[in-house]
Amino acid sequence: MSEVYKDMLPEEFKKYGYQIIDWIADYLSELDFYPVVPQLKPGEIKNKLPESAPKTEEDFTEIIKDFEKLIVPGITHWQHPKFMAYFSATASGPGIFGELLAAAINTNGMVWKSNPSSTELEETVLNWFREIIGLPKEYFGVVYDTASVSTMHAIAAARENTGLDIRTKGLSGLPMLRLYCTEQTHSSIDKSALTLGIGLDGICKVPTDENFAMIPSELEKAIEEDRSKGIVPFCVVATIGTTSSTAVDPVNEIAEICKREKIWLHVDAAYAGVTAMLPEMKKYFVGIEKADSFVVNPHKWLFVPIDFSVLFTRKPKILKQAFSIVPDYLKTQEDSEVINYMDYGIQLGRRFRSLKFWFVLRYFGVVRLQKIIREHLRLAQLFAKWIDEHDSFERIVEAPFSTVCFRAIQKGLNEVELNHFNKKLINHINSTGKIFLTQTKLNGKTILRLVVSGLRQEEKHVAEAWELIKTSFNELNDLK
Ligand SMILES: Cc1ncc(COP(=O)(O)O)c(C=O)c1O
Repeated sequence: MSEVYKDMLPEEFKKYGYQIIDWIADYLSELDFYPVVPQLKPGEIKNKLPESAPKTEEDFTEIIKDFEKLIVPGITHWQHPKFMAYFSATASGPGIFGELLAAAINTNGMVWKSNPSSTELEETVLNWFREIIGLPKEYFGVVYDTASVSTMHAIAAARENTGLDIRTKGLSGLPMLRLYCTEQTHSSIDKSALTLGIGLDGICKVPTDENFAMIPSELEKAIEEDRSKGIVPFCVVATIGTTSSTAVDPVNEIAEICKREKIWLHVDAAYAGVTAMLPEMKKYFVGIEKADSFVVNPHKWLFVPIDFSVLFTRKPKILKQAFSIVPDYLKTQEDSEVINYMDYGIQLGRRFRSLKFWFVLRYFGVVRLQKIIREHLRLAQLFAKWIDEHDSFERIVEAPFSTVCFRAIQKGLNEVELNHFNKKLINHINSTGKIFLTQTKLNGKTILRLVVSGLRQEEKHVAEAWELIKTSFNELNDLK
């Protein structure tokens, strides 16, 4: 073979491979020394990179050097123990190795034949996971990249479940379809509605109670009103652990309504779903076994590198009916005996994602994973207690999981001024680079969120974060 076609030579691959593994090991053990968020202006990274691709080959040593010099300074370190923003996604060692091997093997598990191991491992690990979180046997799991995509598939299945043969005829000429959720539901539900032709007008945001949870009687009322207008209610999305405040919709009651009204119930537990592994958290998951579909993201809080989202459904036939198209070139002689995961989604090509999940589940084991999650819950409760005990801070909502919503309060400031102050506070905190928090709004109030779900987070990190929040608060007051 001509030199031109050759990949990295094995010796070269080993040399750089060891270097990169060393770099990763050092990086993960020295994260504390990095700023969590880079203090950069937009465009700073881009401006240091050439405008065009290299015309000729470059030395890999130089590429690694540039990675450290140009790329690392622009990274927001999600693995950092004081990354307490969004819902964090941390990768464990076994997860990283699973990802590395999957990249090396580089199979495409679109059908069983195209990689039997990936298909059968996906089936196996999702059955393990289903059992761990307490879903009944009839639930069938599929891995997608993100919860947004899992949910889009669930809503497509719900649309198929109407029996209106939208798969063949499309939506034109049909009465309006309606999906029910709340203002607190994740924006991916809105995106699914606009992708699937439901439209944003096809979403009804059901009122919530003082804990930001869906009010079942309001759901019933909305369904009845819609039916009287000829609108077709087809899907309810209930959330366990909403994005802003981790509110829990009453799934059990909602499930009863859905059953009576013959409406698909999708439960979004993208973040909080992993806590169903803990017996003491089961109270938040009452009724999940009645859902038609359920999404949970091991890449959020189970130390699997992003991306890894799992959709469970008890109606896999409907999901398949919504998506399966098998052209001649993808037919195999085993089709009738096996799962071909391409039948359960929009994408054909599929990465070997189950490998990293298998590594994580085996390396840690269920008991250790439970212990880690339990510790995160404890740390969040500890932080919530510190907030409750301090005169200048308050919590707006309960913290059932590991996310604490709070704000600073000051005598003499009205709500608008308080919002302004809290916005300044979060910017001030984040500008230190020592911790990263995100904000949200609840009932018009600007709220800071602190999330404890990173694999490397210990009590000392939460305590340091709390000290920094108080210092930032005092510094802002001194500036007044
Ligand atoms: C409750 C909930 N659902 C869905 C999502 C979307 O997750 P993903 O980024 O995997 O699409 C999020 C993201 O934080 C979320 O909090």
